[in-house]
Amino acid sequence: MAEEWHAPVERLSRRTVTLHQAIRSLMEELEAVDWYRQRADDCTDAELQALLLHNMREELEHASMLLEWLRRADPDFAWQLGTYLFSEGDILTVEERAEAGRPPDDPGPDHPGHSPR
Ligand SMILES: [Fe+2]
Repeated sequence: MAEEWHAPVERLSRRTVTLHQAIRSLMEELEAVDWYRQRADDCTDAELQALLLHNMREELEHASMLLEWLRRADPDFAWQLGTYLFSEGDILTVEERAEAGRPPDDPGPDHPGHSPR
C-alpha cells in the first residue's frame, strides 16, 4: 500500500516517519476490528462467526500494542492517554479538570475533598 504523505517526505523528520508508521498501523488494526465485527454480525454460520470474533479480538490486541508503543514514543500521546484512559465519570469533566490543572480524582473547588493548589 502506498504511504499517504501530507508533505514532501524528504522534508519529514525520521521521528515523524516512524510515528506515521505506527499511526497508520493502528488505523489499519482498528479498521480490521470494525470489518470483522460487521462480518460477524452478518454471518449466519456459527463456527465462522466465532472465528471472525476471535480474529476481531486479535486485531484489538494488535491495536492496543500499537497504542502502547505510541504512548511510550510520544510524550503528547502519553499525556492525553494518561488523562483520559481509565478515567471515570463524565469525559468532558475530565477535560475541564485537566485543563484547570487539577488531578482527575480532585472533585473541584465546589466540592468537599477538593485539594487547593
Ligand atoms: Fe492485526
